Amino acid sequence: MEYNIALLKGDGIGPEIVDSAVAVLEKVADKFGHKFNFTPYLIGGCAIDAAGMPLPQETIDGCLASDSVLLGAVGGPQWDDQPGERRPEKALLGIRSALGLYTNLRPARLYPALRSASPLKDEIVGKGFDLMIVRELTGGIYFGDRGYRDGKYGREAFDTEAYSVTEIERIGRVAFDSAMKRSKRLCSIDKANVLESSRLWRKVMHELSVEYPEVAYTDMFVDNAAMQLVRDPSQFDVIVTSNMFGDILSDEASQITGSIGMLASASLGASTRGMYEPIHGSAPDIAGQNKANPLATILSGAMMLRYSFSLSAEADCIEDAVNSVLNKGYRTADIIGDSTASPISCTEMTDKVLSEL
Ligand code: IPM
Ligand code: MG
Repeated sequence: MEYNIALLKGDGIGPEIVDSAVAVLEKVADKFGHKFNFTPYLIGGCAIDAAGMPLPQETIDGCLASDSVLLGAVGGPQWDDQPGERRPEKALLGIRSALGLYTNLRPARLYPALRSASPLKDEIVGKGFDLMIVRELTGGIYFGDRGYRDGKYGREAFDTEAYSVTEIERIGRVAFDSAMKRSKRLCSIDKANVLESSRLWRKVMHELSVEYPEVAYTDMFVDNAAMQLVRDPSQFDVIVTSNMFGDILSDEASQITGSIGMLASASLGASTRGMYEPIHGSAPDIAGQNKANPLATILSGAMMLRYSFSLSAEADCIEDAVNSVLNKGYRTADIIGDSTASPISCTEMTDKVLSEL
């Protein structure tokens, strides 16, 4: 098969890790007789520097014309004083919305070989955990009405959380369907004891749950969920939640794996075109030093093969290669944990994965 993949390398370590993932995808294409055509487009700070805006129209058009998108990371201190509309992060929201990517899948699993890197005690993570956060990505407070007005105490700023039945239902279906493919447990997280939008969220989820009698459905308030995630992460399998709660809880979930440099994500919409990116950021402090961990981006490439192109044997091949590299003890600096091995570079790690494929 032949696929066109848009590359959004972005800023900081983005270019290094995307190059690693491309090398891996090319080798897999060779091995399985596919052809992947890669076209780079600008996004984030580098687009501000080159084109005066974080998300040029050419980038949107290029992504829309491609079969899928692989993204590195955006942002860095040199663009921090840009006004809200021109911040690199705004480009991320813009591209998610332009591509209609309302679902964000953020798997967080504890790699047995990396258990010592988890900040949680052995008695908590000893059982391991493997959870999938399904985050709503194009609605809620990220996209609601916002602005300034005169309020009770004078000038104030506001942002609005709003969810329609349609938006809740479509993300709910994705979550119930993923639960059906996993261990059939789904927890919906909201703040229905306070927020009207959460009460509607909960009502719609309950209605959907009737259609999925095999799924053990529960709901939980977000404050409790934040606590339960560190108390016993293994109680969760699939979690579904709003844009902002998902943003916060997915950082928490990735931290307790001890290896945020390992975690991939997929953003999906109604078509098979998705956007795939590591969960970690642009790490400007180590950019250009060949120290970054490329595994999350390599694993994002595997998710692309699985979710956008239905190439599951090819995706398995990448995931198995990453596992065996870890089992052999190779570590970049971020996942060194209490290992006595000396850390290897981004390109060395990439070569190790390539040689396992
Ligand atoms: C994420 C990030 C983004 C978000 C920012 C950079 C806009 O934190 O992907 O989790 O909040 O969605
Ligand atoms: Mg975030």
